[in-house]
Amino acid sequence: MNTTLDTFRLDGARALVTGASRGIGRAVALALAEAGARLALSARSEQALKETAEQVAAHGTEPVLVPGDLADLAQAALVDRAAEALGGLDVLVHNAGILPTRPDGTPILLPLQHLPQRAWDEVLAVNLNATVAICRHAYPYLAAAERASLVLMSSVAGWIGTPMMEAYAASKAAQISLARSLAVGWGRQGIRVNALCPGWTRTDMTAFAHTNGPLSDWLLAHVPLGRWAEPAEVAAAALYLASPASGYLTGQALLLDGGVSVPDGGLAGIPKPPSPFAVP
Ligand SMILES: NC(=O)c1ccc[n+]([C@@H]2O[C@H](COP(=O)([O-])OP(=O)(O)OC[C@H]3O[C@@H](n4cnc5c(N)ncnc54)[C@H](OP(=O)(O)O)[C@@H]3O)[C@@H](O)[C@H]2O)c1
Repeated sequence: MNTTLDTFRLDGARALVTGASRGIGRAVALALAEAGARLALSARSEQALKETAEQVAAHGTEPVLVPGDLADLAQAALVDRAAEALGGLDVLVHNAGILPTRPDGTPILLPLQHLPQRAWDEVLAVNLNATVAICRHAYPYLAAAERASLVLMSSVAGWIGTPMMEAYAASKAAQISLARSLAVGWGRQGIRVNALCPGWTRTDMTAFAHTNGPLSDWLLAHVPLGRWAEPAEVAAAALYLASPASGYLTGQALLLDGGVSVPDGGLAGIPKPPSPFAVP
């Protein structure tokens, strides 16, 4: 007899994780492997993917690597390579995503009126257009699976107002909308689709903030739990969404944000330091 805990297992499930070279995606890959899934892993950096693969292999399953740069939509065919290598696809956690960045890798945090169109286009290309292409490629494999789960790694930024990150926030809101539409459209094919919306999580993407004391303090003053999320905490929620434990859940946005999306009307009395942002 299956226990409740057993429903979190993914023994033998064929799963693709994108953005698996570091951060949240690497943690998701490890969690799914720990639950027994057979994995395909994707990102641009093959060396970093190999490091994730070594950690995954410690759980007994050697992953397939399907590198690709999702700024190029044709690279979404990596889904086909993954499914062919695994013999199908039951789970897809599409996690690859970007903030707008300068050539030196620092994030561009500017209000919309100052954001170059090029930066908007780059973010929408990777975060939204590639998501659509990945979903399109994944459909035939997920529809053929007995019970499929598609998890789109969105963000709380797609749920709340996020000034100075408008491009990122709009792309993440679009992922939530896509998850809802696909959940309805693909429900009869047995495909569940949900968006996972983390709050501030300690990864390379947010190094500009978690390594900057005053900025980190100011951001955390707006987080009821008062701390950064760790990638493993996001991975645990991804495992829930990917596994039969969430078998009746579809079309939802799961906000894993330490409470940042809950309005408190100021009544919690959490002191807010002065904003470190000088809005141009
Ligand atoms: N960290 C947070 O606070 C936070 C909060 C909410 C949501 N999220 C979302 O969670 C996801 C993972 O974020 P993270 O914090 O783990 O970021 P990260 O440390 O910067 O990792 C991003 C991942 O995406 C991959 N990637 C980036 N651009 C790509 C491209 N053009 N083609 C293919 N892969 C690409 C990266 O691999 P390569 O560089 O090797 O290609 C890496 O594996 C993102 O979708 C992000 O929006 C993050």
